[in-house]
Amino acid sequence: MGNSFIFPAPESASVAERLARWMCRWRRGGIEHYASGETGLKRAQWASSDRFTVNDERIWLDALPEAFSGLRIVQISDIHHGLFLPEQWLADAVQQTNRLRADIVVLTGDFVTYSRANIEPAAEILSRLRARYGVLAVLGNHDFRVGADAVTSALRRKHIEVLRNQHATVHFGGSSLYVAGVDDYGYGADVRRAVSGIPRDAATILLAHNPRIIHLASRHGVSLVLSGHTHGGQVNLPLLGTVYGRSPERLRYKIGWDRLGPTQIYVSRGIGTIVLPWRLRCPAEITHLELLPGTSEGSQHAAAD
Ligand SMILES: [Fe+2]
Repeated sequence: MGNSFIFPAPESASVAERLARWMCRWRRGGIEHYASGETGLKRAQWASSDRFTVNDERIWLDALPEAFSGLRIVQISDIHHGLFLPEQWLADAVQQTNRLRADIVVLTGDFVTYSRANIEPAAEILSRLRARYGVLAVLGNHDFRVGADAVTSALRRKHIEVLRNQHATVHFGGSSLYVAGVDDYGYGADVRRAVSGIPRDAATILLAHNPRIIHLASRHGVSLVLSGHTHGGQVNLPLLGTVYGRSPERLRYKIGWDRLGPTQIYVSRGIGTIVLPWRLRCPAEITHLELLPGTSEGSQHAAAD
């Protein structure tokens, strides 16, 4: 994750400049990205051309076949389509994702927050996603509260593969990569069933909305878990830390890369918000992962150049 800085508005900033800066902060989740010495409207306009931060990460997997070296996965999590994340913002996320020309796009749950009325519009916009091997999804806790079957049907009608305690296999160059997905942790997640039939030593990616699944995933030989749910804490107060998710377990697997035994995990901050349409020092993100074969021992992952 790159460093983020918040600079005070210059004394001489006009009303228009202040408004542009405020809009930029809003879009990017409370963070303004300024290189040292750059202030004001010009930079704010440039930064707002892309609504979401793209986080580049490289992850080494012991079991990844050479044929999949350099495989690129783009993850969008916690969309929460509705009042706080309107259609245009989701359309922008899709456009940014398509520009990354992913091999696989994964959607890790919470497509909606409270309303069934948001399900179809979200699925319609997400149907524009393009990826070489397809678009795969799992459901989040909010999807279950709103209507798991309705969300599943809407996405599947748009040719998005919803993995509900099951897996998909990607074949390339005589090798296989397995992508499993589970229902949300509190709504029937079954890792054993999801990975059933996958060879124990194979490269397996598990899509799971809630990162708490890592304890089960590590027992089932999963190579990499891709999660969301935490929003990275969403509001990260100076000195006090994040507002959401204060339990030790949630603090451990709240944001970014980590590992438990042989299993690595990446927890996305997501693009949406809950409770308030506000993020602080925790910008929304689209995650762009590059997978490489090689040892995962030690701190072998790295942000891409
Ligand atoms: Fe969420």
